[in-house]
Amino acid sequence: MAQRRLGIVMNGVTGRMGYRQHLVRSILAIRDQGGVELSDGTLVQVDPLLVGRNAEKLQDLCKRHGLDRWTTDLDEALSSSEDTVYFDAQLTSVRERAILKAIAAGKHIYTEKPIADDVAGSLRLAQAATDAGVKNGVVHDKLYLPGLLKLKRLVDSGFFGRILSVRGEFGYWVFEGDLQPAQRPSWNYRAEDGGGITTDMFPHWNYVLENLFGRVEAVTARVVTHISDRWDERGEPYAATADDAAYGIFELAGGVVAQINSSWTTRVHRDELVEFHVDGTHGSAVAGLHRCVAQHRTQTPKPVWNPDLVERTPFREQWFAVPDNQEFDNGFKAQWEQFIRYVEGDGEHPYDFLAGVRGVRLAEAGLESSREGRRVTLDEVAL
Ligand SMILES: NC(=O)c1ccc[n+]([C@@H]2O[C@H](COP(=O)([O-])OP(=O)(O)OC[C@H]3O[C@@H](n4cnc5c(N)ncnc54)[C@H](O)[C@@H]3O)[C@@H](O)[C@H]2O)c1
Repeated sequence: MAQRRLGIVMNGVTGRMGYRQHLVRSILAIRDQGGVELSDGTLVQVDPLLVGRNAEKLQDLCKRHGLDRWTTDLDEALSSSEDTVYFDAQLTSVRERAILKAIAAGKHIYTEKPIADDVAGSLRLAQAATDAGVKNGVVHDKLYLPGLLKLKRLVDSGFFGRILSVRGEFGYWVFEGDLQPAQRPSWNYRAEDGGGITTDMFPHWNYVLENLFGRVEAVTARVVTHISDRWDERGEPYAATADDAAYGIFELAGGVVAQINSSWTTRVHRDELVEFHVDGTHGSAVAGLHRCVAQHRTQTPKPVWNPDLVERTPFREQWFAVPDNQEFDNGFKAQWEQFIRYVEGDGEHPYDFLAGVRGVRLAEAGLESSREGRRVTLDEVAL
């Protein structure tokens, strides 16, 4: 069997997402399985070069995972002709500069979302990548999750009839950091460091909505900082200046109305940390990260409003589970494999920098809507 090597410069792998999802669950898992198989049978084996700010942490990562290539010098990493892909999972505010350098060095780019701090920066990246002719991709991990893949199956089969509305509920309680350490990095709660739930989650909602239900044409949002005092990784108090909840209404092409709550200040009474409830004329479905249940019009009960009676109907039992019918790999890894095949000229990867621009633009529009107390419409994005 033919074998090829793909050198990948990985920046930000000491972070939460970079380490767990991208290095360990994706790239090292691909290495351990022998590589990515192309349609002609060729195996593409990945060879990461870790880049970061802290030499000790990088050395430790290498030792732990049997790697030997690391550097704290991004320019040096980008000058290596052995490495043709640059990946970025740094915190958002330092991403644009690093990606522009990588594009100038002729690398193909794969990056975490949001691709840059604002729409102007995101467009600069899309333009630079197009001008340089490098392949580019943005993480769209939620689309590769079992729950959403099953939901997509329902959409594609016409199960819903005409889709009317989508209700999304995302969130959980993120500890303030005083009584118990917070389970997310403190920069997420500082606007000046690129934090905020709108900037973080609206890019996800944009690609989920546009790939399953239709392009987002307008947004109305109320964005709030509910908790203004938090404690950081060192236990020091800081002012939480970024939004920690966003209540949004998204109007989609074709008439579907989506409402999505995003909150780091809610306690979970749900089956999963994110759930989408879809109602259509012929059926409804509720999808989480893993599970998806549905109810056809022929199986829809007829509730009658009567506040005098305690409700005894087992509503949740009246839905059927959409079966797996396939093995689902880790979503981040599945997308990495698709991107690697695309870089190797084998297949498509449609989630490019322009998709990333649309995600950032929705976040910006949500913030604008809240700030100005009005509905914001969104035109198509083009370079
Ligand atoms: N796809 C998803 O579901 C998802 C989920 C969470 C976060 N993210 C994105 O991934 C990126 C990283 O988020 P995270 O939660 O892993 O953050 P993190 O704070 O855990 O990691 C940040 C990384 O950036 C590096 N870094 C480089 N320059 C830095 C600087 N000047 N200050 C601080 N850190 C610096 C850090 O060393 C670290 O490796 C963000 O852009 C975030 O939006 C994506």
